[in-house]
Amino acid sequence: MHKPVMAGNWKMYKTPADTVAFFEAFRPLVAATRHCEIVICPPFLDLPAAVESARGTNMQIGAQTLYWAKEGAFTGEVSGPMIRSTGATHVIVGHSERRQYFGETDATVLKRTIAALEAGLTPIVCVGEHLAQRESGQTESVLCEQCLHGISGLDAQQFAKILIAYEPVWAIGTGKTATPEIAAEAHSIIRREMRRKYGDQAAGNLRVLYGGSVKPDNAKNLMAQGEINGVLVGGASLDAASFAKIVNYQS
Ligand code: PGA
Repeated sequence: MHKPVMAGNWKMYKTPADTVAFFEAFRPLVAATRHCEIVICPPFLDLPAAVESARGTNMQIGAQTLYWAKEGAFTGEVSGPMIRSTGATHVIVGHSERRQYFGETDATVLKRTIAALEAGLTPIVCVGEHLAQRESGQTESVLCEQCLHGISGLDAQQFAKILIAYEPVWAIGTGKTATPEIAAEAHSIIRREMRRKYGDQAAGNLRVLYGGSVKPDNAKNLMAQGEINGVLVGGASLDAASFAKIVNYQS
């Protein structure tokens, strides 16, 4: 099994100057960290500053979305090769906020995922159910649909390179974390679907991250679940001390 991935999603927070200040504070706190991969996903404009600040460290940098064309008349968009050219290595795809506010669908998630892989980026593909879907017993079918239409179009080689993040929408930014057991159950549904399509070994190697109100005080219990192979952290990744505590959940 690969190392767990502890990823931060800064959303639309921090300027380049804020980014430099964050890394100055964060770097020493994780300098000795070896048990996991650390990925930080700032806004596009901050990517060069983040890559520069992370150079020579154990941290990697990712973007928060991408467009699937390599270039062209797509005002406002940023492509995979452009992101890669900054030195970033990862990109979040299909975050629920992108689905909710910017009309992303499983079909466009798949296109973006393929474009990310073609650019040499590791996509962190997000799936997760809304509160109403959970309350009406649809969690499993929603996750299966998102896996089927958003991920299963990948071939085996492509699949081997992705990360999946399970982010129940009701837990994002709400302070309501899924319990470790609820998260692990969803992760096992996702892994089961992936096993069906890609086989035991590929599904076993897949890292599924949990996201949704991960904080320093719940990271350890979440990470204790064998099904949880990392976290995708929003709010608590903006503060160097708090994200370092999550990354170093073992100590
Ligand atoms: P949160 O966000 O940690 O602030 O709930 C998680 C995410 O949206 O990735």
